[in-house]
Amino acid sequence: MKFFKPLLFIGLLLPIANLFYRGAQDDLTADPVEYILHYTGLWSLRILLLTLLMTPLKDMTKGAWFIKVRGMIGLYAFFYVSLHLLVYVWLDLRFDFAHLWEDIIKRPYITVGFLAWLLLVPMAITANKKMIRKLGKKWKTLHKAIYIVTILACLHFLWLVKNDLLEPLIYAGIAFVLLFYRLIKYSRS
Ligand code: HEM
Repeated sequence: MKFFKPLLFIGLLLPIANLFYRGAQDDLTADPVEYILHYTGLWSLRILLLTLLMTPLKDMTKGAWFIKVRGMIGLYAFFYVSLHLLVYVWLDLRFDFAHLWEDIIKRPYITVGFLAWLLLVPMAITANKKMIRKLGKKWKTLHKAIYIVTILACLHFLWLVKNDLLEPLIYAGIAFVLLFYRLIKYSRS
């Protein structure tokens, strides 16, 4: 168990390493920007769901270390979403912030994606022991925003897909199970 956290830390860097590797091999499809945008978007969602999986895993196995790594995985989710946003603003929009603002206002899937990222910012800033101590009960309330982030992230995915809804529906289904678990747990306590 001692090596679990460092291994997980390295493991969560592998998608980025793979992206760089594919980039170096010139293997990012005919539309590299779109590929990177989709790749970072998918990994953002996967890692967000992985963060949410830690509590049920802890409850089922009584393994406290699931909670010990939860914060780190959550920070990785923020890192991947920020990268996803950066790819969009940098490679797609060429730092045209007026265009970004227009997208946020006019394209609903960008609106919800951006809102999800905004909600993650205070959570990432307070994801440390000092802030947990300082904020006390408020910390738990603030970090419950992860549930809203998850719903917004699923909406973002469902909204942007034009034809085949299967993939976003699978992710939304997993999110539903993970959120429903909380609902049952809190209603019983
Ligand atoms: C929690 C926050 C977010 C998550 C989890 C997320 C996740 C995703 C996912 C899963 C995809 C689709 C990947 C695929 O089709 O394979 C995607 C695509 C995309 N996302 Fe996000 N995203 C988030 C926030 C944002 C933000 C803040 C922006 C920009 C302001 C953004 C812009 C886009 C764009 C432009 C696409 C591609 C749309 C297209 O296919 O035309 N996302 N994102």
